[in-house]
Amino acid sequence: TKTLTVLGLESSCDDTAAAVVRHREGEAPEILSSVVAGQTALHADFGGVVPEIAARAHTEKLDLCVEEALSEAGLGLDELDAIAVTAGPGLIGGVLAGVMLAKGLAAGAGLPLIGVNHLAGHALTPRLTDEATFPYLMLLVSGGHCQFLLVKGTDDFTRLGGTIDDAPGEAFDKTAKLLALPQPGGPSVEAEARNGDPRRFALPRPLLDRPGCDMSFSGLKTALLRERDKLLERDGGLHVQDRADLCASFQAAVSDVLAEKSRRALAEYMTLSPVRPIFAVAGGVSANMTIRSALDTVSAEFGATFLAPPLKLCTDNAAMIAWGGIEAFRAGRRDDMTLQARPRWPL
Ligand code: KG4
Ligand code: ZN
Repeated sequence: TKTLTVLGLESSCDDTAAAVVRHREGEAPEILSSVVAGQTALHADFGGVVPEIAARAHTEKLDLCVEEALSEAGLGLDELDAIAVTAGPGLIGGVLAGVMLAKGLAAGAGLPLIGVNHLAGHALTPRLTDEATFPYLMLLVSGGHCQFLLVKGTDDFTRLGGTIDDAPGEAFDKTAKLLALPQPGGPSVEAEARNGDPRRFALPRPLLDRPGCDMSFSGLKTALLRERDKLLERDGGLHVQDRADLCASFQAAVSDVLAEKSRRALAEYMTLSPVRPIFAVAGGVSANMTIRSALDTVSAEFGATFLAPPLKLCTDNAAMIAWGGIEAFRAGRRDDMTLQARPRWPL
């Protein structure tokens, strides 16, 4: 089928999003609109995403996001070929809000409905932005996810390993909290780290002594807490330089772990002898320049092309869901009114 124009909906965590993507076979896909309404301010006082508040906000904003995405694309529902929606994994109230609206729209407009796995949406993004060819290696690294995926086809993913506890973004956020820096922690820790000495504090590089691609980040935060408390006890407070050095040392530890585990994942991936080896990243943490350049370096060691989509498409958005829907549609997949919202849905 020639040209496909698909509306995507995303509401699995704390971003409400709608987007329209168009794809002419044999050409690069086009993002006609991508609307994202964040909820950071709503959850700011609670130190994390509150599921009930998130679900309510999705219900209130999703229809408005759809309206805006369609009007930005200059299209009516009758000009679409399908409705794609995140059907999991995620906070169930939000996922339900998206799935119910998508069912209503699909039924009302007489369009096919496609449930998309949120992680597949992230993992297929390099094909939306860079026409990545299968198989490629993917590192998803955000506040909620951290895993290496071998992407062998539209619906063919192998998980090579991932975090056994916290995601790195979560560790950045907790580190910021320990050091009284603003949330989200990633950007503020990175900014502090610019003036810091990454070698001042010897923080652990967990699981590097073990084979495989599994990672752990929760011990890092505990080690950081210990260093902070030693300084507090000694000086009664944290000096500006102490804070910068703590941030730099923490960031270096995360970066080293991700780089070394990427080396192992790449070694495994290269045994598939890809014609055009590709190592792609997605997720909020891939915005970090120290981490990005460490991963780029490792990728070069293997002669692989390093792909880091623009940040708007690395973090949660609906263009990746519309695109996941297009890939699924082309593979012949359709859902119907029995589509379920799934809190857990491993790839
Ligand atoms: O992908 P994302 O927007 O949402 C999900 O978690 O799904 O990622 C958000 C996470 C937060 O934990 C945030 O602190 C982290 O990504 N982050 C960063 C940076 N920018 C955002 N971590 C490290 N360095 C950054 N520059
Ligand atoms: Zn996500």
